[in-house]
Amino acid sequence: MSTATNGRYRQVKIALAKGRFDYGPYLGAGAPSPHFVSELGVLFAGDCLDVLPSIRDESVDSVFADPPFNLGKQYGRRTNDQRSDYLEWCQSWLDQCVRVLKPGGSLFVYNLPKWNVMLGAYLTNAGLDFRHWIAIEISACMPIPGRLHPSHYSLIYYSKGKPKTFRRLRTPIQTCRHCGEEVKDYGGHRDAMNPNGVTLKDVWTDIPPVRHWKFKSKNRRANALSTKTLDRVVEMSTVPGDLVLDPFGGSGTTFAVCEAKSRHWIGIELDFAPEIVERFESDEIRSHRNDDYVEI
Ligand SMILES: C[S@@+](CC[C@H](N)C(=O)[O-])C[C@H]1O[C@@H](n2cnc3c(N)ncnc32)[C@H](O)[C@@H]1O
Repeated sequence: MSTATNGRYRQVKIALAKGRFDYGPYLGAGAPSPHFVSELGVLFAGDCLDVLPSIRDESVDSVFADPPFNLGKQYGRRTNDQRSDYLEWCQSWLDQCVRVLKPGGSLFVYNLPKWNVMLGAYLTNAGLDFRHWIAIEISACMPIPGRLHPSHYSLIYYSKGKPKTFRRLRTPIQTCRHCGEEVKDYGGHRDAMNPNGVTLKDVWTDIPPVRHWKFKSKNRRANALSTKTLDRVVEMSTVPGDLVLDPFGGSGTTFAVCEAKSRHWIGIELDFAPEIVERFESDEIRSHRNDDYVEI
């Protein structure tokens, strides 16, 4: 992102951050007490199915959900990642996410292709509009006998009617990392191309894995996403001052990105809320480099 864009976000943040985030207007009666409130967001420690019903109808601009994938992984003490009713469980929190989304708002779900095929069909039946199936390349997956080698996770992107915000992102024109020369000739049309880069594709091969400790919490070893994935979701679907909801906070990647980009946020996390607060307070977890260009 350009220095000018960063500077603009800082200014918006100063204008928005008048003390703590006033989350009251977004919650109805019986809402639980928050675990943490920042200048821009609010975090609830608990089960998303207990917290989501307190969020008011049509109050959120964008939802990002990265639930456990039902692979029997060890998250925290309270997470059940081996459900016989996995799809029904996903549908219960998706119903809430759809309800709280504003008309024109966006909804993203990150999951295995196997589950997202069905969750996408569910969202279509719920009346949302399909926008994209984004394939996010992963390198760490082992080959499976009798199958193709799985090499992507799926990020489905839906909107509630015509999207009210869709900002075009551009990725830099690819160069050779040894000689610096451009690697493609774009069929002879290079001169006609936008100097800010090429329109972001729906196949993302440039998302770095989160392996190094400098990118993740030392006290939470379970999966964490790259800030680059959330940069794209947030930039594409919201403008500064908008409200983003993430019901499966994990290590707080979504919230850290929202803070950096001057978006309000509502977060929920069952087992790791203290680790999310630590992320904010220590400033130790870094962001991945991202050279996307955001069109205003
Ligand atoms: C795949 S991780 C999310 C990772 C996150 N996107 C990040 O970048 O760090 C899923 C998270 O959901 C949390 N979780 C599981 N069940 C939950 C529930 N019912 N309500 C809220 N959080 C839940 C787990 O503790 C785990 O941290």
